[in-house]
Amino acid sequence: MRTFNFSAGPAGLPLSVLESAQAELLDWQGLGTSVMEISHRDPRVIAVFESAQRQIRELLAVPDDYAVIFAQGGASAMFDLIPQNLSPASVHVLNTGAWSEKAIKGAQRHAAVTVTGAAPYVDVPALSPVSGVDYLHYCHNETIHGVRVADIGTHQVPVVCDASSSIFSEAIDWSRHDLVYAGAQKNLGPSGVCLVIAKRSLLNADAALAPVFNFAKLDAEGSMVNTPPVFAVYLIEKVLAWITQRGGVSAMKAAAQRRSTSLYAAIDQSDFYSNPVAPAARSWMNVPFLLANPDLDAEFVRQSEAQGLMFLKGHRSVGGMRASLYNALPDAAVPALIQFMQHFEATRA
Ligand SMILES: Cc1ncc(COP(=O)(O)O)c(C=O)c1O
Repeated sequence: MRTFNFSAGPAGLPLSVLESAQAELLDWQGLGTSVMEISHRDPRVIAVFESAQRQIRELLAVPDDYAVIFAQGGASAMFDLIPQNLSPASVHVLNTGAWSEKAIKGAQRHAAVTVTGAAPYVDVPALSPVSGVDYLHYCHNETIHGVRVADIGTHQVPVVCDASSSIFSEAIDWSRHDLVYAGAQKNLGPSGVCLVIAKRSLLNADAALAPVFNFAKLDAEGSMVNTPPVFAVYLIEKVLAWITQRGGVSAMKAAAQRRSTSLYAAIDQSDFYSNPVAPAARSWMNVPFLLANPDLDAEFVRQSEAQGLMFLKGHRSVGGMRASLYNALPDAAVPALIQFMQHFEATRA
């Protein structure tokens, strides 16, 4: 039986994608073997990579002068690899939570860093137009604190965005973004791949770093500088087709808004549950909430799991609970969660 998976990541994948991969596991394309067991240089594998890249371009309306790359090392590697590829002397970071902090630490290893924003992460700080640095970095959706930057504004420098926990849940305005990256394991597929979409004019094939981490080289070689994580990209290709079948990014956005709005409404209506984030900055993907009495946290988790509502325990740095509402979450999950929350409150308050 499939449970409702509220994990912050790695997160649930669409059932039809898992079933399709299961059906092909022993015999892919009549080869009598799985896609995992053959060369990444096989034309059929290259076709999977090309299909994934084409669908990413279509779904996100990526301009032609941007590269679409499957990189390795997760989104965490990008905290260093982006400065190593872009060779900035100075970087400005909008700090809206724990992942912004990691981006700051990564950038500090390579450049002078200035910052707007600090804890507690319950709102998006006002950001004046940025100039005089080599780029601005921000995290579109803070997975731990549940803070979403609705509008980054316009700046006189390139804008780099960590969209790990929100990619494919809403459109990206490419007039305001020069590089967007996202670890795959929330809205895109399994872990092991980080999607990087970058304006080609920013990239430098001569940057002083290992060729497997050089974005210009990855772009030139179809993300196959070395043996890539083929099975992960194969699953991503299927997830992208699933997004298209469901109506594309606009349908994902409508679902995200519908689900998060109903969950925040249930939290706000109650004195038993609370979320500290300013309404305009609330995440559509990750909804952290506290119980008025933290002594009940363990009981809440135990009872919710008994109902098939899985992985609601909050991040250790924030406490309480967190419901992650990624694209693949079935529609019935949030009503079931709200019903459980109301029942728990009625019996425990
Ligand atoms: C917003 C954000 N950035 C970066 C990361 C780090 O991703 P990875 O574990 O792929 O390095 C995460 C992981 O949850 C995240 O949510």
